[in-house]
Amino acid sequence: MKKFIHDFEVTRNHHISSDYFALYLKCPVSLPQIFPGQFAEVLVSNSTTTYLRRPFSIYDTDYNTNELALLIKKVGDGTQALARLKKGDSLNLVYPLGNTFSMPSGEKALLVGGGVGIAPMLLLARILKQKGFSPDILIGGRSAGDILEPEKYAPYGEVFITTDDGSAGTKGMVTQHPALSENIGEYSAIYACGPDPMMKAVAHLASANNVPCEISLENTMACGIGACLCCVVETVEGNKTTCIDGPVFDTRRLKLQWDSKSKV
Ligand SMILES: Cc1cc2nc3c(=O)[nH]c(=O)nc-3n(C[C@H](O)[C@H](O)[C@H](O)COP(=O)(O)OP(=O)(O)OC[C@H]3O[C@@H](n4cnc5c(N)ncnc54)[C@H](O)[C@@H]3O)c2cc1C
Ligand code: FES
Repeated sequence: MKKFIHDFEVTRNHHISSDYFALYLKCPVSLPQIFPGQFAEVLVSNSTTTYLRRPFSIYDTDYNTNELALLIKKVGDGTQALARLKKGDSLNLVYPLGNTFSMPSGEKALLVGGGVGIAPMLLLARILKQKGFSPDILIGGRSAGDILEPEKYAPYGEVFITTDDGSAGTKGMVTQHPALSENIGEYSAIYACGPDPMMKAVAHLASANNVPCEISLENTMACGIGACLCCVVETVEGNKTTCIDGPVFDTRRLKLQWDSKSKV
C-alpha cells in the first residue's frame, strides 16, 4: 500500500485530561484511505530531545474534511511536546503504515481496549458496523480518567466499561467482565489493544474458547519502515516486524513471549 509524507495542519488539540489529548489534523491533499489498525510515524519537531519519529494509531478519520485524529497519552518528551501543539501548527506524518484487522467470520465481534489502547478500535467499530457486523466494545482502564471518549463508540455497538477501582463501569479488569468471562463463546472474533498483560490475558481466554483473536502490538519502534528490526516479534513463521508485518497479529501465530519486547 502506498505511503505518504505530508505536513498536516493542527485544527484542534483537545485536552481530554491532564494525561490524554486528541490531535485533529488536516491533510493538505485528499486524505488517502486508512484502514483500522494502521498508524502514523510523527515527527516531533517542537522537542529538542525527540530525534526519532513516534508511532501513533490513527484514531479517527473524516474524508469530508480530510482530517485524521490521534489519541495520545503523555508519557515522555515526545508526547509532552505534541500536547503543546496549537491550532494552526504543522505536524509531519508518514502514513498510513502497517496492516489492518481482518473481518470476523460471524456476526458478533468483541473489541477490547485498555487505556489509550482503545485508539485503533474506533475505526474498527465503524467499519464493522458499516459492513453489517455487530460489535460490542469493552473499554477498560485503571480508573474513570483512563476511559477515553466512550461516547464515540456508542453509534457502532454496545459499550461496556470496566475500571480496576470501580470509579466507572463495572469494577475489575476487562477479563472479569461477563463479555469475556461468561459470554465469550458468542463472539466470532475478538480484537484487543492495550497493555501487554491485558492483551495476553485476552489472547489466552480467546484461545481457551476457540475464538479467533487479533491484537495490535505497540512495540518500541525506531524507523517504522522495516529497516532497523527493533520492533521484531517472534511468530510461528519466524521473526516478523511489528511496523511492516503488524501491528495487528493473529494471536494463534504469535509466540506469546512478547512481554519483554513491548511496553505497557
Ligand atoms: C503501532 C503503535 C501504535 C501506537 N499508538 C499509540 C496511540 O494511539 N496513542 C498513544 O498514546 N501511544 C501510542 N503508541 C505508543 C507511543 O508510540 C509512545 O507512547 C510514544 O512513542 C512515547 O514517546 P515519548 O517521546 O513521549 O516517550 P519516550 O521518551 O520515548 O518514553 C517515555 C516513557 O514511555 C515509555 N514508552 C515508550 N514507548 C512506549 C510504548 N510503545 N508503550 C508504552 N510506553 C512507552 C518509555 O519506556 C518511557 O518509560 C503506539 C505505539 C506503536 C508502536
Ligand atoms: S521500527 Fe524499524 S523495523 Fe520496525
